[in-house]
Amino acid sequence: PQLDMGMRTEELTAQLPLFRDLSEDRIRAISRLMRPLFAVPGELLIRKGERGDTAYFISSGAVEVITEHVRVRLGRGDVFGEIALLTGQPRTADVRALGYCNLLVLSRTDFRSLTDKDPTLKQHMATMAAQRRQMNATA
Ligand code: CMP
Repeated sequence: PQLDMGMRTEELTAQLPLFRDLSEDRIRAISRLMRPLFAVPGELLIRKGERGDTAYFISSGAVEVITEHVRVRLGRGDVFGEIALLTGQPRTADVRALGYCNLLVLSRTDFRSLTDKDPTLKQHMATMAAQRRQMNATA
């Protein structure tokens, strides 16, 4: 069963558009850092204001990002939870599962080593985080 779980995580990791251009070996290595998480409808995955140590990749399903002024739906292939990891600041929004979701969870340490090894990915994450913060600041 453990082997099957690993195979599945590798498959799900390979399907993430963020990693599309990486080699098979690299994707396999990244998938070993990922913890699969199955979320149920309504489950609160991130609470605004808390300290955060994980980033989440959506393999299937959708979540809703909620602040006082913003409500954004994220789906398959999207990432969330990256802002706290990049800035060291508390979580900037609540994130709730909209339906059943397959998520892949990465720790702060692994997120850092992953992005340090891949400048393009690092830049992509930084740009996305900046855009999201900008959107929340002006909403
Ligand atoms: P973080 O602040 O760690 O935890 C909440 C997450 O919600 C945040 O990281 C982003 O990944 C996500 N998020 C916050 N604001 C937005 C937004 N305006 N659009 C999309 N995602 C957001």
